[in-house]
Amino acid sequence: MRTHSVLSLLSLLGAAHGARILQSNDDGWAELYLRSFNDALNAAGHDVVVSAPAENQSGTGSSDREPEPRSTPCQYNSCPANSGPVGSNSTNPRLNWVNSYPVTSVKYGLSTFGPQIWNGQAPDLVVAGPNTASNLWLAVHFSGTVGAAVHAARVAKIPSIAFSGADGAELPWNTSPVPSRSLVYAELATILTEKVLESGAPYLPEDVFLNVNFPSITSECSRASDFQWVLSRVNPGFLSAPDVETCGDDRLPTETDVVNSDGCYVAVSVGDATDKTTAPREKQAVVLEKLADVLTCLP
Ligand SMILES: *[C@@H]1O[C@H](CO)[C@@H](O)[C@H](O)[C@H]1NC(C)=O
Ligand SMILES: *[C@@H]1O[C@H](CO)[C@@H](O)[C@H](O)[C@H]1NC(C)=O
Repeated sequence: MRTHSVLSLLSLLGAAHGARILQSNDDGWAELYLRSFNDALNAAGHDVVVSAPAENQSGTGSSDREPEPRSTPCQYNSCPANSGPVGSNSTNPRLNWVNSYPVTSVKYGLSTFGPQIWNGQAPDLVVAGPNTASNLWLAVHFSGTVGAAVHAARVAKIPSIAFSGADGAELPWNTSPVPSRSLVYAELATILTEKVLESGAPYLPEDVFLNVNFPSITSECSRASDFQWVLSRVNPGFLSAPDVETCGDDRLPTETDVVNSDGCYVAVSVGDATDKTTAPREKQAVVLEKLADVLTCLP
C-alpha cells in the first residue's frame, strides 16, 4: 500500500515537472511565440519536442497532406534550400519542421519525432501556439493552431491545449531582444499547462481540447501576474443546453466577451474536439474542478 502511494505520488510529480510535451502551431516552427513558449517549458523542466510547419500555415484548419520536398529555405531562412520534406535543427533534434500543414506536423511529431526522443513513448500532452492572433468563435474553425490541438485530442486521444494571443508578432525565432508580449504569453501558457498537468491524469476528458485566448498586452496587463483566468464558451449559447454552474450562472461567458472585458482576463474554453464548438456541461465540470483554484469570475 505504502509503496504504491509513494509511487503514484512520484508519477504525479514526474508528470507535473517533467512531462513529455509535443508542441506545434500554425505560424511556423521558427516563429518567435512558439520558441519563447518552448524556452519556458524547457526552463520548467519538461521534456519537449517541437513538430511544426516549415512556414506560416495560418488559417489551414484541419488540412492534412503528405509533406513534399522543399526547394526553397524554410520561413525566415530557418532551414537551407532543398532540405527535403521534413527536417530538424542541425544541432537540436527536439526542434523539427514538416513541409505541410499543422495537423500533418502533429501527426509526424506523434509518429516519428517524438518517439525518437522519448524511446517510443507518446507525449502526455500536446500544446499548440501561442498563435500570433486570437482564435475566437468562428475563427476556431479555420485556425491551424486549433486544428493541431483538435487532431491530437480527437484522433490521437492525447489531451491538448491551443493557445492564442491577441497581439501579433510575426518575428523570427532569433529576434533580440525578445519583445515582452512573447515572454508574457509564454509564461501564461506555461502556467496553464502546468495547472493541467498538476491536476493529474487523465489530464482532460476524452475528445476535449482547451481553447485559450490571451488578451492584448497593455500597460495595465503587462506581466503574467496581472492576468486572471475565466472559464468560457467557444460559441454563444442562446439555444444550447445549460453550461456548468459557476459564478452564480449556468451560462458561461463567451471567450470573445472574456478577452474584450475591462481588466486582464484570459479565456479558457472547454472545446469539443469532435466539432470545434463548446464541450457539454459534464466535461466543462471536470475542467472547472481541475482548474478551480486559478479560475475567477468576470466582475
Ligand atoms: C538551432 O539550434 C541552435 C542550438 O540550439 C540554435 O542556436 C539555432 O538558433 C537554432 N536554429 C533554428 C532555426 O532553430
Ligand atoms: C501568416 O499568414 C496569414 C495570412 O495567410 C497572416 O495573416 C499572418 O499574419 C501570417 N503570420 C505570420 C506569423 O507570418
